[in-house]
Amino acid sequence: MPSLSWAEMRWLRQRWPGKLLIKGILSVEEARQASAEGIDGIVLSNHGGRQLDGSVSPLELVAEVRAAVGDAMTLLLDGGFRRGSDVLKARLLGADAAMLGRATLYGLGAGGEAGVDHALRLLHAELDRDLGLLGCSKLEELDDSLMRESR
Ligand SMILES: Cc1cc2nc3c(=O)[nH]c(=O)nc-3n(C[C@H](O)[C@H](O)[C@H](O)COP(=O)(O)O)c2cc1C
Repeated sequence: MPSLSWAEMRWLRQRWPGKLLIKGILSVEEARQASAEGIDGIVLSNHGGRQLDGSVSPLELVAEVRAAVGDAMTLLLDGGFRRGSDVLKARLLGADAAMLGRATLYGLGAGGEAGVDHALRLLHAELDRDLGLLGCSKLEELDDSLMRESR
């Protein structure tokens, strides 16, 4: 919606007691503002109505945004996540999770519901294997010391 502004988000926040996340944030300033407005989480994404191919990549922003908003805010991102190692990089940089669009859509096109299951299983297996290659048995064991190895 072209007229959507922080005033509308404030209006929504006052009326919606549940979790409220904004998708399409692409700057540290906007992330700070979302936090100040009491928004529970943000999705760094260049797909939220801003499909410019030259816009900043969410992965490039995530560490800076996490540092700006602190640990309490839910921080998701999407755009181009195709492999388990992509997700690990996002986690290492400060994201809580990565979201998938086309990775599952391709599975759907190739094999319907079973294709989506297959795509998710592939990604899960990669995630598991790549964690092992980093010497970790679960996501919570990832820490900054691994950054050089996984980038
Ligand atoms: C066919 C299609 C339609 C989409 N429609 C919307 C939309 O209406 N609003 C939106 O915020 N994002 C939309 N997206 C973007 C996805 O929600 C998601 O942000 C994006 O696909 C993530 O990137 P990825 O496909 O590389 O995983 C769409 C994506 C696809 C593939």
